[in-house]
Amino acid sequence: MSKKRPIIIDTDPGIDDAVAIAIALFSEELDVKLFTTVAGNVNLEKVTGNMLKLLKFWDKSIPVAKGANDPLIRPAIDASDIHGSSGMDGYDFEEGDTSIVLSDHAVNAMYKTLMNSEEKITIVPIGPLTNIALLLKVYPEVKAKIAEIVLMGGSTSRGNKGVMSEFNIAVDPEAAKIVFSSGVPIVMAGLDVGWKALVFPEDSAKIKTFNKTGEMIYSLFQKYRSGGLKNGLRMYDSCAIAYLLKPEMYQVVESFVDVELAGSLTAGTTVVDLKGYLKQPANALVCVDINPEMFKDWLLESLKKCQ
Ligand code: RIB
Ligand code: CA
Repeated sequence: MSKKRPIIIDTDPGIDDAVAIAIALFSEELDVKLFTTVAGNVNLEKVTGNMLKLLKFWDKSIPVAKGANDPLIRPAIDASDIHGSSGMDGYDFEEGDTSIVLSDHAVNAMYKTLMNSEEKITIVPIGPLTNIALLLKVYPEVKAKIAEIVLMGGSTSRGNKGVMSEFNIAVDPEAAKIVFSSGVPIVMAGLDVGWKALVFPEDSAKIKTFNKTGEMIYSLFQKYRSGGLKNGLRMYDSCAIAYLLKPEMYQVVESFVDVELAGSLTAGTTVVDLKGYLKQPANALVCVDINPEMFKDWLLESLKKCQ
């Protein structure tokens, strides 16, 4: 078997985060070295508790480090309207084991994991980018140890939190600007693909029959309010994992990407300069389209591998 790809997942679970985490944990191709949590869908205590609940559910002992509870500058916003007040409404999880939470802040835990690794590590942010921005600013030397950042976030067009802003970027635009301007290789899996990465009722019914993970995910989907069971539930965060495991499902373009900070109506917009008007070198590989059927087949096959 070929060597597994080492990754760090920075997350704000989050119902769609739970699906992405399941796929990553049971993939034969990925080696999750560390989970770091960041406030996003709900606050830091809740997302960290949810991360621990998921690891308990799967009896996995992978390090978890708590990160930022607030954006760098702006007041916190959340997505409890989409994921429920717990952040993972719909399933009655057993409480996780708080003793496995590292004493290090997520930034320091990422720093140590990266610097102690013999090989470069891929960072997979599937929540707001606050922790990643702090890591790159406090420890710029880690850039040499990061293979790439494959993030769920942004949009080449309209938003899902603001008129023009996707949630993960809208929570902390300043952090996103730091990450996109860092010089680290970035892959952006945004709404252009997330809005086509859908689970319909017939798919959800199949997932329920796969295994206990499928049963759990099916229960979460009853409370997940992103899209709708009728017109498709959006598997946003799985799009980042899908890029690692089946990139051929995507159409990608290299582009300069920056983040609007000043606009009173547009802060958090990812300005994706597909036509080069700004005459800046490309700093990201942007997923601009996806094969929906290939995604669906991949998602179902991946969930079948879970326990
Ligand atoms: O816009 C979708 C993103 O916001 C996903 O990461 C979802 O979990 C929410 O955090
Ligand atoms: Ca998320």
